[in-house]
Amino acid sequence: MKSKSRFFVETFGCQMNVNDSEKVEGLLLADGHERAASAEDADFVFINTCAVREKAQEKLFHSLGRLKKAQRERPELKIGVGGCVAQLEGEKVLSRAGNVDLLVGTHNVARVPEFLRRVVEGSGPLVDLDRSADSFTVPDADVAHSSDVRAYVTAMEGCNHVCSFCVVPRTRGTEVCRPVDAILTEVRGLVARGYPEVMLLGQTVNAYEHDGVDFAGLLAAVDAVPGLLRLRFTTSHPSHVDARFAAALRDLQRLCPYLHLPVQSGSDRILDSMRRGYTRAGYLEKVALLRAAVPELALTSDLIVGYPGESEDEFQETVDLVDAVGFDGLFVFAYSARPGTTALRLDDDVPETEKKRRVRVLNERQQRFQAQRHAERVGSTEQVLVETVDAPGRLSGRSRRFQLVHFDGPAEWLGQLRQVEITGSGPNALTGRVAVQPLH
Ligand code: SAM
Ligand code: F3S
Repeated sequence: MKSKSRFFVETFGCQMNVNDSEKVEGLLLADGHERAASAEDADFVFINTCAVREKAQEKLFHSLGRLKKAQRERPELKIGVGGCVAQLEGEKVLSRAGNVDLLVGTHNVARVPEFLRRVVEGSGPLVDLDRSADSFTVPDADVAHSSDVRAYVTAMEGCNHVCSFCVVPRTRGTEVCRPVDAILTEVRGLVARGYPEVMLLGQTVNAYEHDGVDFAGLLAAVDAVPGLLRLRFTTSHPSHVDARFAAALRDLQRLCPYLHLPVQSGSDRILDSMRRGYTRAGYLEKVALLRAAVPELALTSDLIVGYPGESEDEFQETVDLVDAVGFDGLFVFAYSARPGTTALRLDDDVPETEKKRRVRVLNERQQRFQAQRHAERVGSTEQVLVETVDAPGRLSGRSRRFQLVHFDGPAEWLGQLRQVEITGSGPNALTGRVAVQPLH
């Protein structure tokens, strides 16, 4: 392989992984390497993995299997594996796959270019799962943001919660928050480079606390950066929703009225077993607090169905909670037993077919609800930030409440705000036309 190679990064999982991959890409570009159009075309393939559910983890092994043919034809093709599966499974990945040259944990993305040089020099499979490394140190100028409109900015990493089903505390470690100044410097740099929107990231981003600044304080500081048009964040935990947080959502001008607030279940017994730290009534109280402060708030959530021992009645409690809240979007997952989690001690006794049925029931209900909720927006005018050109003259973007809106307009509008009159709707998107500005 040449010293300057063509690389391809494949990413599975959450926005945090997307952001880590953006760092890997940016650092490889800064090191003089080039992007390849596909994994089959590349000299170096980096797979950034997700371990949250078994199915997500298996995607790594499918990709590695697919690459075996390319490696037979071009033995110089090098493969790196990073992210949560690397951190969780360690060297087992090497022995199971047999074709991995580099294994890096969740905190070592900044070292990928250096490792690539060593791998090319022929120093055998390299493994670095050291979690004391600091992936925050990647300078913003070296992050190859995948969107020209919304830039991800990591505010904190890791998680101090102990949900019974979740591998994240094992893969990403305990909470580490970035200093406010470092976040502000990055956001100012992004605005100077033309990014209209920033999304702050963290596994439980609203638990943020650094040098006496809490999450509401961080939001206020970022919201005040001159030139920023929109601010979002994800993911929040219900336990860290309080009056200050609700007031920030109400008062900050650029902060969008959108919140992803995973509830996981509507049953108190299951929530307790999951060690989520709140009850059904507690969650509903938080929703009431938020909606009293921000009546137009869009709320989305995650649910797990088929958790060990989940009865039909307990599932119905989740269905009832979903009906009671009326979420604007929902991600429903079938429970997947994961290594090293405390729920592993419980019998994974809900049959797969039943888990699938529960997923389907909730998704179908949610689709009907969203169709109805979206239909109510017809006739309203939404502020839309133009994010993509879908076809010549056809654009799409997101409203402040994160609804997808399709409408006609020129490509030059990319990254700009437009007022769009909503003329049509479906369960997953709205359509509209740019509102004619009144003549004065
Ligand atoms: N940090 C977030 C939170 O506060 O909940 C989310 C972490 S996880 C990456 C994203 C979602 O995956 C969770 O909200 C949960 O619904 C789902 N999930 C996590 N572990 C799971 C498991 N073992 N089986 C099924 N779904 C799971
Ligand atoms: Fe996972 Fe619970 Fe933390 S879902 S990321 S342990 S809040």
